Amino acid sequence: MVQVTVPASSANLGAGFDALGIALTLYNRVFMEEADGTVEKPLCIIESLDGAQIPTDETNMVYQSAKTLFERCGRPFRGLHIMQESNIPMTRGLGSSSACLVAGLVGANALLGSPLSLSDISDLAAFLEGHPDNTAPALYGGLVASVMDGGRVHSVSVPVSEQIRFAVFIPDFELKTEYARAILPKQVQREDAVYNLSRAALMTASLFSGRLDNLRVAVQDRLHQPYRFPLIPGADKIFYLAYELGAYAVAISGAGPSILAIIDAGNRDFTKNAELELKRSELKGWQVTVLSCDQNGVSVIFK
Ligand code: HSE
Repeated sequence: MVQVTVPASSANLGAGFDALGIALTLYNRVFMEEADGTVEKPLCIIESLDGAQIPTDETNMVYQSAKTLFERCGRPFRGLHIMQESNIPMTRGLGSSSACLVAGLVGANALLGSPLSLSDISDLAAFLEGHPDNTAPALYGGLVASVMDGGRVHSVSVPVSEQIRFAVFIPDFELKTEYARAILPKQVQREDAVYNLSRAALMTASLFSGRLDNLRVAVQDRLHQPYRFPLIPGADKIFYLAYELGAYAVAISGAGPSILAIIDAGNRDFTKNAELELKRSELKGWQVTVLSCDQNGVSVIFK
């Protein structure tokens, strides 16, 4: 039996659409062992350890990605027994699907004696997800800049300044990533491309070096957020609220609907004040939680 622990992640960080992501200190845990089925009839046994509603058949993402890894390595697949603890809220833009993919791949790789390197797994995870900005942080931890080129993911993970924390505003409604991607324009103006790529570069350099005064400009985006705001009722108010409470930068987390606010570690009253304001306003159904950057990424141990 292996135990895989994998962090949540927040992709894009404003301007870095499909390129930047950060791992957060909120974790899914997966226990996995090979089951006693046959190659013709693999066994699929899946349990939720915390009551979270997860698929318990072959459509389960942990199961599917683990099976893909067995096949990719040419190993006989007889099924799996999987137990899941799902702390990362699903369909909220916090990397829960990438966490499941990564858990399945890393767990299966460990069960097979690690035939694939972390970099091979990163390529496979990004291929399955379609973009690397959640999968790479889930694997490596830290703030990760990634490029997908010819089926390979080129990533660099850097630690972020100790001076910052990440306040995540999570609503009680879901937003499907496929939908939030499908509504984006297929072509962009050159000035919008320059607007974003200069800011994505500034975000990475500023988070790494602690130049927090740059973040409010670095987080601005023209490629996805303007189109996604109408899909997230209350997002404009959450942005306003977070800036009023002293956030350095605010962005839609991944494809949404959660909102990520980058705040100072010393802003200890942020959660209390945000909760008060959420209660006072008509923003019912939103919760706020303050996390740090996970610097380590996925871990696996044999039990
Ligand atoms: N970069 C992706 C998007 C992240 O914004 O669609 C999805 O989690």
